Amino acid sequence: MESADLLLEHAAELLTLAGPADGPRRGAALRDVGVIRDGAVAVADGEIVAVGPTDQVRDAVRVSRAATVIDATGRVVLPGFVDAHTHLVFAGSRVDEFEMRLRGAGYLQIAEAGGGILRSVAATRDADEESLYRLGRVRLDHLLRTGTTTAEAKSGYGLTCDDELKQLRVIHRLSAQHDVDLVATVLAAHAVPPEFAGDPDGYIDTVVRDILPAVVDEDLAEFCDAFCDVGAFTIEQGRAVLEAGSELGLVPKLHADEFTDTGGARMAAEVGAISADHLLHASDTGLAAMAGAGTMAVLLPGTAYFLGLPFAPARRMVELGVPVALASDYNPGSSPMWSMPAVISLACVGMRLVPAEAIAAATINAAWAIGMAEEVGSLEPGKAADLVVLDVADHREIAMTLGGSIVWQVIKRGRIVAGIT
Ligand code: NIG
Ligand code: FE
Repeated sequence: MESADLLLEHAAELLTLAGPADGPRRGAALRDVGVIRDGAVAVADGEIVAVGPTDQVRDAVRVSRAATVIDATGRVVLPGFVDAHTHLVFAGSRVDEFEMRLRGAGYLQIAEAGGGILRSVAATRDADEESLYRLGRVRLDHLLRTGTTTAEAKSGYGLTCDDELKQLRVIHRLSAQHDVDLVATVLAAHAVPPEFAGDPDGYIDTVVRDILPAVVDEDLAEFCDAFCDVGAFTIEQGRAVLEAGSELGLVPKLHADEFTDTGGARMAAEVGAISADHLLHASDTGLAAMAGAGTMAVLLPGTAYFLGLPFAPARRMVELGVPVALASDYNPGSSPMWSMPAVISLACVGMRLVPAEAIAAATINAAWAIGMAEEVGSLEPGKAADLVVLDVADHREIAMTLGGSIVWQVIKRGRIVAGIT
């Protein structure tokens, strides 16, 4: 009989998100969150050893005398949230641009005038590794307190070889030293840096020849991303970056069809991207290509909210069989937010996902979107004991609590790391 050093029991609802091991949830399966009433999880050495109704779990494991036993009566227990798209490491504030937008200036208009991403690039270049690390730590504390236990983090505010490497090194250090685990993405093709103004192809050359090989040399990223849209890179430039990254062993991702339909969804499917993100304006043909290739749609409703844009057509995606995940897009300009419960609420109200679909999109499908589904995203024996306990008795209430925190406790690898201890 296994012996457990942590037992959570009597959850009003335990959401296992357990299911097919061969791929993400799609279509009607997206709303299957695996609810167990009066549920329990037993943990040993940071790993889940048993999941089920409390009486069965109690029978299946020996609870050591020194074990921590948590009574989750009246509460929902689910896997820690996985935030599949963030720009976590940046310096500087763009609050003045935010106010300009409230007064009517457009996001792209501000970017064309030298603000936007390039403002954050200037501040991030000026910052040393240590100060970026300190900023990142504070942000990760915020993520953890809202229930995120694993996240993706991108470079893209450096745009020189040294500054991209600097951001990625900070991401690795944060992952090693903070409870939130991070996976790293190189997004050198985020904007055309000032040194290459008017010569985007020249910059793409530098990305392909210098930056990506240097990143791979130091083993600093698993994923390679590009921003293809009006005001950013063309589909052909993005394709060149993702194909070069692929050849070096980096898995492609794409910022696609955010402001206009430039054919990003289709290109992502063609290069075998693991995900295409944003997709506010993706066409049905692009989405069908993604469904065929199994490319995850990572939807970022916080961005649509902050920019006042129409939300992505999530219902259409589910209908077409595109696997869907959710993320915060946490960044200093278009989505200065990190709370996954808030993302879930925006996804339900703005994109008409039902709460169960949004929860699956923010846990198990998000884990698939960043190649972590074998370790996190569901509560199953053998997986990491990353759990969130919520102060509500019905999982649908997550979507009804925008702004207030309902996170009661966060457990990372079997240890209580935030909330009530
Ligand atoms: O994912 N869309 C492109 N890039 C970011 C915005 C970053 C910024 O404004 O600093 C995004 O939304
Ligand atoms: Fe983004």
